[in-house]
Amino acid sequence: MKTIAVLTSGGDAPGMNAAIRAVVRYGIYHGCKVLGVQRGFRGLIDGDLFEMDLSSVGDIIHRGGTILRSARCLEFKTEEGREKALNVLKIFKVDGLIVIGGDGSFTGARKLSEAGFPAIGIPGTIDNDLAYTDYTIGYDTAINTVLDAISKIRDTSTSHERTSVIEVMGRHCGDIALQAGLGGGAEAVVVPEVEWSIEEVCQKMMKSKNRGKKHSIIIFAEGCGDANEFTKKVEEKTGMECRTTTLGHIQRGGSPSGFDRTLASKLGARAVQLLLDGQSSRVVGMKDHKIVDVDIIEALEMESEFDIEAYELTKILSI
Ligand code: ADP
Ligand code: F6P
Repeated sequence: MKTIAVLTSGGDAPGMNAAIRAVVRYGIYHGCKVLGVQRGFRGLIDGDLFEMDLSSVGDIIHRGGTILRSARCLEFKTEEGREKALNVLKIFKVDGLIVIGGDGSFTGARKLSEAGFPAIGIPGTIDNDLAYTDYTIGYDTAINTVLDAISKIRDTSTSHERTSVIEVMGRHCGDIALQAGLGGGAEAVVVPEVEWSIEEVCQKMMKSKNRGKKHSIIIFAEGCGDANEFTKKVEEKTGMECRTTTLGHIQRGGSPSGFDRTLASKLGARAVQLLLDGQSSRVVGMKDHKIVDVDIIEALEMESEFDIEAYELTKILSI
């Protein structure tokens, strides 16, 4: 029997609970003992581990957040911090660790692997900023949350004949902005991956107005700077009445979508299977609708490819 530990780290994402459930149930089904680590790498340093059983993950597949809590732990970035964590893993007789998180958390997992401890990563972040996988857990739900918000903002924008700038999360990645912009029928999408100018956006707004549009929606990715400043400039240059809505952490919560739940379930199972097969230093993901696993260093070094076709399509469809 193997002892597996699982933790969630970095920004939480809807579907993390479904991934924890899959790790625990798949692990126990295959005769493993599964330990949950509280508050990410913080709990690993503090020895905050507990045994999870089948019922400890009951009734969580549909819940947002993470029952294991999450944290950003600076101490884990130090050699001494990681030494403490390795010692805790030894004390609890853990054979392998599963880290659910984003690229920062994967870097933590990579460091443990390099120190000789078996670690596997599951991509859990709304940002979708990991190039080796087409989807990260939580991204689909976040898009749907943004779409819901766009529909509501559209109602009031139309009533008042305003332009609405909606700032969305994603850190340096424009994927949430792009997909929500395409699906939400935005007039403009401003993302860090594509060069943009206020002038170009304003011209688009004026064109839409002259064509008789009653409202305009601009999706502004947080990685592009200050949304309030941007709105002010658009207002000055176009003379249109504008409002900014920063969606913020609403994008990180809520019940995970069907896609995120199934993705998390499959990724959780694959991660455990890799440990059972004696593998380490790998991350799991989805490529072309298939579950894949990739070397962690390779995955972290891969460059993201922005979906420029979807970006151009958004422009065409909002003429
Ligand atoms: P995410 O995993 O969502 O990208 P962060 O970038 O905040 O979130 O990283 C989460 C945690 O991963 C950090 O708080 C830290 O504990 C760990 N981590 C990040 N970078 C490193 C690093 N270079 N070395 C070791 N651990 C790291
Ligand atoms: O990585 C997820 C994310 O929500 C980013 O989109 C955002 O930039 C950041 O985390 C916000 O972090 P915090 O929750 O610490 O404010």
